[in-house]
Amino acid sequence: MQRAGVTSQFEIRIEDKTYVGADGSKLTAISEFVLDVAPESMTVLMGPSGCGKTTLLRIVAGLDGRYRGDVGLPPDTRIGLMFQEPRLLPWRTVRQNIELVAAPDFSAKDLEHLAQAVGIADMLPRYPQELSLGLARRVALARAFATKPDLLLLDEPFVSLDERTADRLRRLLLDVWQARPTTAILVTHNAREAILLADQLVLLAPRPTRVVAVETIAVPRAERDPKTIDAIHADLLARYPGNFSSR
Ligand SMILES: Nc1ncnc2c1ncn2[C@@H]1O[C@H](COP(=O)(O)OP(=O)(O)OP(=O)(O)O)[C@@H](O)[C@H]1O
Ligand SMILES: [Mg+2]
Repeated sequence: MQRAGVTSQFEIRIEDKTYVGADGSKLTAISEFVLDVAPESMTVLMGPSGCGKTTLLRIVAGLDGRYRGDVGLPPDTRIGLMFQEPRLLPWRTVRQNIELVAAPDFSAKDLEHLAQAVGIADMLPRYPQELSLGLARRVALARAFATKPDLLLLDEPFVSLDERTADRLRRLLLDVWQARPTTAILVTHNAREAILLADQLVLLAPRPTRVVAVETIAVPRAERDPKTIDAIHADLLARYPGNFSSR
């Protein structure tokens, strides 16, 4: 059966997300946050460390229901989530870690293909503790892709990778995202990466976070060469000196 996926624009509205510590202390991570996400678009979130980005993704993923607001996703949305830390099951091989969450129509051949593309083909029979952090992150990325999600949520997916590998995986992400109707939300601290990938680039305020600005990156992706990315970057730096990282 063909899945409906995310067929129309949806709104993430978080009026308040406050953590209550064991001692009763309160910490408000998100306040008055409103963001529209178009179907089959790539939204990139940038904001200072600790502002509430992971908190936000966990809410959108449905992993944290303790907030005031609403995430207007269709109820049957299939979500693929890559956490900031790889979170692989240590008692399962790499292959099993991927197979366990893979979509029903994800074949053994698809798995071999994907493993090759992310550079973990030799690692499939191994256990997570045998992997470097960079390799474990690639497995986590493959696992998120293998779910064939309607909504793909990626929390700093390309950190701790060398630049060449990161660049290859960014292009792979674009291929996967374009191959079937996928809506994606990605968190990064890397401005050039954000400009390369985004349809809409969202700048976030320090904690409690909210949307400071939404920038549409209108240049077609095929034209986003290093020079063009530098020019967009310079423009954003000039317009958002306090909000836009120079990395
Ligand atoms: N389970 C929790 N209980 C209490 N406070 C929490 C919890 N999780 C996160 N926080 C706090 O909420 C705030 C936002 O955390 P979050 O992890 O969402 O930030 P982030 O934007 O993802 O940061 P980074 O860029 O460093 O990953 C931080 O002050 C953090 O200490
Ligand atoms: Mg985080």
